[in-house]
Amino acid sequence: MSEIYVIHENPSWLAPLAEALSAEALPWTEWFMHNGSFDLAAPPPEGVFYNRMSASSHTRDHRFSAELTAGVLAWLKRWGRIVVNGPAALDLEISKVRQYAALEASGLRTPRTIMVAGRDQIVPAAFAHFAGEPVILKPNRGGKGLGVQLFHTLEGLKEHVESDSYIEPVDGIQLLQTYVRAPRPVVTRAEFTGRRFTYAVEVDTSEGFELCPADVCAIGELACPVGKVSGKPVHKFTIVEGIDARLRSQLEAFLERAGVDVAGIEFIIGEDGQPLVYDVNTNTNYNPEAEARAGIAGTPRSGMGALSAYLGRRLAEPRSRAA
Ligand SMILES: Nc1ncnc2c1ncn2[C@@H]1O[C@H](COP(=O)(O)OP(=O)(O)O)[C@@H](O)[C@H]1O
Ligand SMILES: [Mg+2]
Repeated sequence: MSEIYVIHENPSWLAPLAEALSAEALPWTEWFMHNGSFDLAAPPPEGVFYNRMSASSHTRDHRFSAELTAGVLAWLKRWGRIVVNGPAALDLEISKVRQYAALEASGLRTPRTIMVAGRDQIVPAAFAHFAGEPVILKPNRGGKGLGVQLFHTLEGLKEHVESDSYIEPVDGIQLLQTYVRAPRPVVTRAEFTGRRFTYAVEVDTSEGFELCPADVCAIGELACPVGKVSGKPVHKFTIVEGIDARLRSQLEAFLERAGVDVAGIEFIIGEDGQPLVYDVNTNTNYNPEAEARAGIAGTPRSGMGALSAYLGRRLAEPRSRAA
């Protein structure tokens, strides 16, 4: 029987999707991508393959899951299978540098970024490009905000890079990036399903910038739905009606051009009022508390509701059953 195959490496991120797929009574199965063997000469099963491999998989002791998935996706494509978030999506998921190239090629602006390989190259590059400015250090292969740090001075950056707490990025590439000051202390993550806008969530960054719009609070994070600023409760994640229409169509065009089907795209509105896009997440999670407050939890307008409906439509395509 033709089914939906969910390619992933993190069981706790799978639970909300499992619930939504089951609610739609869609046949599905999981492919846990940590180890295993694949006969490349044999055809894969019939169905729709949905890739949810995450850039942060290496932080869960799955160092080679992304590499294994790249091979599996190539095999699926070679056999003509329908793949949602195929090789092009994985390619962007694991490299911010490649994200930025693709975003800029679609006319979207990204923060000024210097790519650095080599621990001893970071400080000289920072002095050459960010003298007198705050700077952000982030790994090229990111996820969950891990390793993303803001330095107000380059002396602070130097101290960190020379310290024992410095962590070498998994692909050897660090990014030095302009710290975007947002007049309104929010970042926005716009969610897209089937390359179309689903909704956006605003993340309050007044407590600190190192937040991750979905992942921090997305899964069973009922413990942290509400933060506190000066003792006052503040909702960190708020679903907003929409985003600027021009930006929305530019982001949809970017997904079309890049061949990415499902994504959460993060941007900040800078001091000049223009959006700067800094993160494309192809393995997207949704914030259940914000969805509940917006009255869309468990409906087709929720993130997982829209996603499972989309996967169901792809499964109904004749090609998913063709030999
Ligand atoms: N250039 C920047 N200026 C200001 N804040 C930033 C910038 N880059 C990242 N951030 C903040 O840090 C968080 C994590 O960075 P991000 O690039 O999304 O890394 P990750 O891929 O780990 O999610 C963002 O959600 C945002 O709040
Ligand atoms: Mg992010």
